[in-house]
Amino acid sequence: MTTLLDVCGVSKRFGGLMALKDVNLTVSDNEIVGLIGPNGAGKTTCFNVISGTFPPSEGQITFDGHNIVGMRPNRIVRIGLARTYQATSVFPTATVLENVVRGAFTRSEDTFLGSLLGLAASRDADARLRRHCMEILDRVGIAHVHDHLAGALPYGFQRRLGVAIALASDPKVIMMDEPAAGLNPEESHAMGQLIREIHEAGGTSVLIVEHDMRLVMGICHRLIVLDHGEQIAAGSPEEIRNNRQVIEAYLGTEAI
Ligand SMILES: Nc1ncnc2c1ncn2[C@@H]1O[C@H](COP(=O)(O)OP(=O)(O)O)[C@@H](O)[C@H]1O
Ligand SMILES: [Mg+2]
Repeated sequence: MTTLLDVCGVSKRFGGLMALKDVNLTVSDNEIVGLIGPNGAGKTTCFNVISGTFPPSEGQITFDGHNIVGMRPNRIVRIGLARTYQATSVFPTATVLENVVRGAFTRSEDTFLGSLLGLAASRDADARLRRHCMEILDRVGIAHVHDHLAGALPYGFQRRLGVAIALASDPKVIMMDEPAAGLNPEESHAMGQLIREIHEAGGTSVLIVEHDMRLVMGICHRLIVLDHGEQIAAGSPEEIRNNRQVIEAYLGTEAI
């Protein structure tokens, strides 16, 4: 296994609040890693410092051999690290397909997509790009609504569109912030299957934040637990499920 994402000793201070304290995490090729913990633990902040929304107060972050601290978010996407958001973040007045095409444009250098976009003046390239994006919509199961306005989609489809937009940048690692939030148990199960498929068929590694423990325990190879910005445990789903500190801080004593 090769380490793709390496977060080393990262802290993030917001005024007097330490939202992250000396967090260490890695994601290798061929891995699904879960980042879990109670609300306010710092999970989204961790995604924000990794994806370049704001820099860490301390620590190093490397991705695929690049130092990504201080790198612009679009450039981070271009080198292969994409993310989805906790709230849906589609362009509501664009069609579903146009949303995915925009996602593909974020990655327009040195890639297969770049070579397509380099020829964008030609109709042929445009058609190929649209076909590529249609394939992605097909993978996430919403190709049949490609010409609908994104804002008019049912909520569950909007979550899938968020995944499609991230996939359009052809990522090596995709970070997903609560992809099953607001989904019913059936939709949540289907989201888990989709993530597994993206990983297995596409070879994409995944770093996932999610509260649905059935989903997380079912798909993750490894879990990292945050509480009050600190890493309180790391291990296999089985180890985490039985970790007393994790049960007390987050999981509770109910059977999971
Ligand atoms: N941009 C920000 N400015 C100030 N405080 C923030 C900001 N983002 C998050 N926080 C605070 O950092 C803590 C962790 O938040 P967050 O990372 O959203 O937690 P989680 O995603 O685990 O629920 C919370 O106390 C939150 O209020
Ligand atoms: Mg969050």
